[in-house]
Amino acid sequence: MKQENLKQMMKEKLPGKVFHLLENTGKIAEKEGYSAYLVGGMVRDLLLGVENLDIDITVEGEGIAFAEKLAKRLSGRVQGKTRFGTAVVTFPGRLKVDVATARSEYYEHPAALPEVRSSSLREDQFRRDFTINAMSIRLNPEDFGILIDFFGGRKDLEKRIIRALHKGSFLDDPTRIFRAVRFAERYRFKIEKRTETLIKKAVKLAMFDELTIERLRDELVLIFSEKKPLRAIEKMAELHELKFIHPRIRFNKGLKKLLAGVEETLIWFKDSFPNEKMIPWLIYFAALLDQLTPKEVKTTCRRFHLSRKNEEKIIKGRKGVAKRLKELSKKEELKPSRIYRQLEDLPLETLLLLMARTEKVARERIVFYLNELRQIKSKVSGKELLELGLKPGPQFARILKNLLYARLDGRVRTKRDEMKYVKKYLDNLTRTGQTVN
Ligand code: CTP
Repeated sequence: MKQENLKQMMKEKLPGKVFHLLENTGKIAEKEGYSAYLVGGMVRDLLLGVENLDIDITVEGEGIAFAEKLAKRLSGRVQGKTRFGTAVVTFPGRLKVDVATARSEYYEHPAALPEVRSSSLREDQFRRDFTINAMSIRLNPEDFGILIDFFGGRKDLEKRIIRALHKGSFLDDPTRIFRAVRFAERYRFKIEKRTETLIKKAVKLAMFDELTIERLRDELVLIFSEKKPLRAIEKMAELHELKFIHPRIRFNKGLKKLLAGVEETLIWFKDSFPNEKMIPWLIYFAALLDQLTPKEVKTTCRRFHLSRKNEEKIIKGRKGVAKRLKELSKKEELKPSRIYRQLEDLPLETLLLLMARTEKVARERIVFYLNELRQIKSKVSGKELLELGLKPGPQFARILKNLLYARLDGRVRTKRDEMKYVKKYLDNLTRTGQTVN
């Protein structure tokens, strides 16, 4: 194996504190009799020139004991120890390192022997998903920075391909069926031909039991959280992967259009409201369930253990949609309050899905709502309404709402207008014999 030293590249591309942490990790490993390697996504992204600060370290030796030594020497804290020999060490300054044990029978051999060292690392790397994710960098000081690439990951990075390490890879871990698509989409790589055949075969056989369903969901969330997931979803459809979400999903023109609408809408929204929090993956998920019956949607949400709140957002995005859109698509001019009423009860994700469904005038009205109407608030406070003699209760909420509608339509402008409006409203109620609270 040709040896390439990446120390210089690491020094140039990694933030100083990360580089030093890696150097120190290597020194501590050496001193305590371990071999330590940087592995996984960070190695891949370093070579690609993409930022990635998830530090994964694999050690030959007892991983947890090493994590404890590392924490002690560098003022960190060990968390999340598992029986698989993994632990997380967190350091001041928001740095964290995932430590794993290279799984092999190394326990029977002294870790210092180079042959044993590389065979257990090789085994560890061989269990991974793709060649580009199965490279490591040695951290012990003497050969700090040496790239260890047993399976040709470096070459595959250059060729821009996603290649599975062995033919059982997707059956060992079916979530990799989705990871392949995600990495291909993210880096604009191609899935290598044989790997694609393996995926297709695995798709026919793969089973997601209760235990793996959460991991499947996590993978879907990651795909739908990429910047432009449409291409990845298209690839998932091509590989028949959508059946794992629900067998009735058909990637037809209608669904493609809806998903493209979601992508476009989300790009617009993130651009317009960069600080506003919402859950983009949920919108893609909801869009993919669009062809299903309400009952199927519900069971799918439950199967993926979505929270009730998220389930509700998905269901709301379907109920009465046609009616709302019909109203919003009317050619005649609509008062702002009329637009507002169609949309005010919808969570943001549901609104964005609605926007993705539609074009022209309805879309413009939703944009108007998001940009302007939803930010408008009444000036008079609840406390001031109480002072006017109103009592808390349904009527109170109704008055506040009507007041807001009046403001949206420009019927009240100042706080004085508002007070006048409320007084008149109350007088009217009294005159018509209705109660005020
Ligand atoms: N891995 C794997 N099979 C999986 C998940 C992970 O073999 N199903 C391995 C890969 O070697 C991967 C590493 O574990 O590089 C770390 O996994 P993860 O953090 O999920 O992925 P990253 O490669 O770091 O990718 P990302 O940039 O999306 O975090």
